[in-house]
Amino acid sequence: MMQAKTPEQSKTILTDMVLPGETNPLNNLFGGELLARMDRAASIAARRHSRRIVVTASVNHVAFNRAVPLGSVVTVEAKVSRAFNTSMEVFIDVWIEDRESGEKTKANEAIYTFVAVDETGRPIAVPEVLPETKLEKERFAAALRRKQLSLLLAGKIKPNDATELKALFE
Ligand SMILES: CC(C)(COP(=O)(O)OP(=O)(O)OC[C@H]1O[C@@H](n2cnc3c(N)ncnc32)[C@H](O)[C@@H]1OP(=O)(O)O)[C@@H](O)C(=O)NCCC(=O)NCCS
Repeated sequence: MMQAKTPEQSKTILTDMVLPGETNPLNNLFGGELLARMDRAASIAARRHSRRIVVTASVNHVAFNRAVPLGSVVTVEAKVSRAFNTSMEVFIDVWIEDRESGEKTKANEAIYTFVAVDETGRPIAVPEVLPETKLEKERFAAALRRKQLSLLLAGKIKPNDATELKALFE
């Protein structure tokens, strides 16, 4: 039995600026650049949780709620919110820091799925997640539903097998 871990144990924080080469014509951070930063932080979190080679299986949800202007200091925080057998859901929160006050405001969030694999790329089992805070418990509880939605949209399960989703409509 592998030792379960808390989301805090996989927490990964990546702080970096927005430079001119990373912006769109409105001088805001280019979406693909933010996706890459989130993928890196989430990948490190999944690796810390599993201590394995991890690959991005899917990007389940990304909300670009707020533009991130040139020169901003951006913090990407990733934590494993739930582990299944070989896959892990990683929650990513993105914050921007005000230059004068130092205050952080939430800019974006995303949910990625990673799979732990062996040296030959075959999926391999990972430890469980033990959520601690209220938010971690909420994210943990809803993760199975999101997994089923992602598998359904990918055509990997049939609607009838998406039990958690069906329960939403009953
Ligand atoms: C991710 C990958 C290992 C999954 O392989 P697979 O043959 O689908 O393996 P399985 O069917 O055994 O699935 C493995 C796990 O991934 C989950 N999974 C697969 N596709 C998924 C999707 N679209 N959304 C959510 N979970 C997914 C499965 O549910 C399973 O989870 P579990 O073991 O925790 O129950 C494989 O598709 C791969 O190597 N992809 C390329 C990854 C990569 O290179 N990413 C970088 C981007 S280019």
